[in-house]
Amino acid sequence: MSLGGPRPPDALETAAIAAREHAFAPFSKFRVGAAVECADGRIYSGCNIENATYGLTVCAERVAVFKALSEGARAFRRVVVAADTATLTPPCGACRQILWEFMGDVEITLVNLAGAAESYRLKDLLPRPFDASYL
Ligand code: THU
Repeated sequence: MSLGGPRPPDALETAAIAAREHAFAPFSKFRVGAAVECADGRIYSGCNIENATYGLTVCAERVAVFKALSEGARAFRRVVVAADTATLTPPCGACRQILWEFMGDVEITLVNLAGAAESYRLKDLLPRPFDASYL
């Protein structure tokens, strides 16, 4: 893990922060943005999209990675999660699993709007993961 003081966001962080503006979060009011960087440099972003049934809500991380996958991306370098919390918002367990299966042990950076950032390896957030290698 690396801890960073306030600093200007890089391009991927900027994309995640911008995507957060599109969050559809009328129930929780908790707005999240995410962005993934593909191995070829393409960037895809996503926001959380809530649903009146609550359970059908999709997190920003999954929207971003599914957008990338549906455009043909299969190899990834990084993912950023942006929320407006002092304690930086980590991905939920479901997203950790999805990110692991499609992205592997990528760098995951958490940011807020004040310029705080922390970076982790996904494997450290999802120790001993289950994946297709067991099937
Ligand atoms: N949420 C995300 O989109 N990503 C996260 O990393 C944490 C949670 C969303 C889901 C829901 O719309 C709202 O935040 C509150 O849980």
